[in-house]
Amino acid sequence: MKSLALLSMVLAVLASAQSLDYQTYKTTVEPIFLKKRPTHARCVVCHEAANYPFRLEPLDKGAATWTDAQSHKNFEMASHLVKPGAPMASLLLVQPLAHSAGGAEFHSGGRQFASQDDPDWRVLAAWVKTEH
Ligand code: HEC
Repeated sequence: MKSLALLSMVLAVLASAQSLDYQTYKTTVEPIFLKKRPTHARCVVCHEAANYPFRLEPLDKGAATWTDAQSHKNFEMASHLVKPGAPMASLLLVQPLAHSAGGAEFHSGGRQFASQDDPDWRVLAAWVKTEH
């Protein structure tokens, strides 16, 4: 029984990893984690090597962005915080979204996205919906 449960867990993880597209992530989603938003700190400032589930790889000294190998790790990590096809059931999208727009009640990093119409939030949603 135990091994069956484990097997189904592994299959579920594989299935979700498969439906999310890495190239879309690398070119559209990841730059958002590095982008400076007015009145907010960048995601990477707090989430680089963080002890929270949303943990970005530390950038190499002086590097403006991640290497491909680091991005693959970030992709794996981010994939665990989203539910393919369901942006509003995805922690990655709900936590930084304003509460009034359907987001979480509290995020130490603030209301990074004021509404679901924020262009960056829509990029995250498009990735999760696997529209590519
Ligand atoms: C000022 C620091 C800070 C910034 C900037 C920040 N966060 Fe956070 N974030 C936190 C902290 C601290 C937590 C831990 C739980 C909490 O307090 O909300 C967290 C939690 C989260 C979580 C829930 C999973 C977890 O690791 O606990 C997600 C998802 C998240 N942040 C996404 C983002 C995104 C996306 C951005 C940028 C658009 C961002 N955060 C910017 C500090 C920050």
